[in-house]
Amino acid sequence: MPPLDAAVTPAASDVPDRAAARGRVDTAYALLTDEERAWTRLVHDPATFTREVPYAALAALRDRHGVVPVAEPALPGWPEGTGYWLVLRHADVDRVLKDPGTFSSSFGGTQIRDPRTDADLAYVRRMMLNMDPPEHSRLRRLLAQSFTPKAIRALEAQVAGHVTGIIDRMLAAGDSADSDSGDSDGGRAPTSGECDFAKDVSADLPLLTLADVMGVPAEDRWLMFDWANRVIGWQDPDYRVSAHFDPAGATELGRAAYALRPEPGPDGLMPDPRSREGMPDLYAYAHALGTLRREHPGDDVMSILMAQRDDGEGGGSVSVEEFENLFWLFAVAGNETTRNGMPGGLVGLLGDPGAQRALRDDPDLIPNAVEEMLRWWTPVMTFRRTATREVEIAGRTLQRGDKVVVSFAAANRDPAVFDDPDTFDIRRPNARRHLAFGAGPHVCLGAFLARSMMTQMFTQLLGRTSWLESAGDPVWLQSNFQRGVKRLPIAWTAP
Ligand code: HEM
Repeated sequence: MPPLDAAVTPAASDVPDRAAARGRVDTAYALLTDEERAWTRLVHDPATFTREVPYAALAALRDRHGVVPVAEPALPGWPEGTGYWLVLRHADVDRVLKDPGTFSSSFGGTQIRDPRTDADLAYVRRMMLNMDPPEHSRLRRLLAQSFTPKAIRALEAQVAGHVTGIIDRMLAAGDSADSDSGDSDGGRAPTSGECDFAKDVSADLPLLTLADVMGVPAEDRWLMFDWANRVIGWQDPDYRVSAHFDPAGATELGRAAYALRPEPGPDGLMPDPRSREGMPDLYAYAHALGTLRREHPGDDVMSILMAQRDDGEGGGSVSVEEFENLFWLFAVAGNETTRNGMPGGLVGLLGDPGAQRALRDDPDLIPNAVEEMLRWWTPVMTFRRTATREVEIAGRTLQRGDKVVVSFAAANRDPAVFDDPDTFDIRRPNARRHLAFGAGPHVCLGAFLARSMMTQMFTQLLGRTSWLESAGDPVWLQSNFQRGVKRLPIAWTAP
């Protein structure tokens, strides 16, 4: 594998023919009705998601077409693109994800927005997320082996400790019943309070947990918050430039990396986070940490990974460069997703007092409720593949080079699989059939950890309070990729 900073331009035959792909989308798009075209515009536009997920439009398109052409006009912060084929039914989404030979993660990458240049495409292909088997299989196997039963047990215990600390902090910031001034009087434990569940409670748990997985000192964890916001939140005016990291409390490693953080350009935008130049601070940190962990391994999963020798095809151990890319992937993939899954699940509970009561009465229902939260909320709404050959799906014939986008949001509300799919039902018998973690060779590697974080969070949140309710309007992320919660004001009471 050439070094990452080498200028690599893939051969033309290894890059989708975008002009031809666009022509095919445009032709089919012109055949939609005006109403259907309006629905696809709604579904594509990131601004829609600051108001709602357009479930009615997704359902109508799913019923009528199953797979629908979507145009990609220039939008604020999103350049014009080739357009794509949106796959909406549960069975078809599952099929696309399980057939990497036909629907490639590598050919055009896995994000709807095409990489800006062919060199950027070559760059994202170095990440496991954007590889196909067999290249993908080697790293996936090594990583899966690094989550040893012992490491998993340790992580679950650490998650429980982090949740306790976070809920302690939430409760301590409240008011006690006999405090006239509203100050916590130090004598009695607070019995009520308000907080922003998204920012004050949810954000820290994935950061602390990922720091454990990757051996990042806890003082540096808010760097990961910043990186994930820049990468995942690039469609959102607040998140794409956000900086929540205070270098004063960081390690030397953290401060040195932070010094390399790029500045927004004259247009107010950061450099493209999906290019190596866009994330110099992350790469500097990952490089220094990878080198350190190779020399001085800790107990974390990434140290276990670095120590492995791979005797299979591809040979050798994980290089520091591979570590850097895995670090990028974990810091981003595990962070914003879980941070949004927890408030998303709470939105379901706040809207269904009967469910909140039932979970308080019978905490054994919490694991199934978490599956229903993941189905109903669907923190990751889309992922992209590119067709490698002619293929028929839902009555459409797609060609090599066509951009194929799976809608987890539509699949998770497909009435062919889920009865009364728009209803949040914590006792739903088949909630676990959701596709929120994907399927096939790239199915989420952190799913067990995400489930553990959500289950432990709701167990303690409900176990240590007596009621939760909404205390203001939530603010949603501007993104057609992640269903994000920027603010969720809640009021709690405790016994
Ligand atoms: C509720 C939380 C989460 C959701 C909804 C979620 C969702 C997903 C989805 C849909 C994929 C599939 C991508 C594809 O098919 O191209 C994926 C992959 C991945 N996720 Fe998660 N994820 C979550 C949490 C996590 C956590 C906590 C971690 C890390 C500890 C993580 C690490 C990964 C990695 C490394 C991959 C790539 C796997 C591969 O390429 O083989 N995720 N995730």
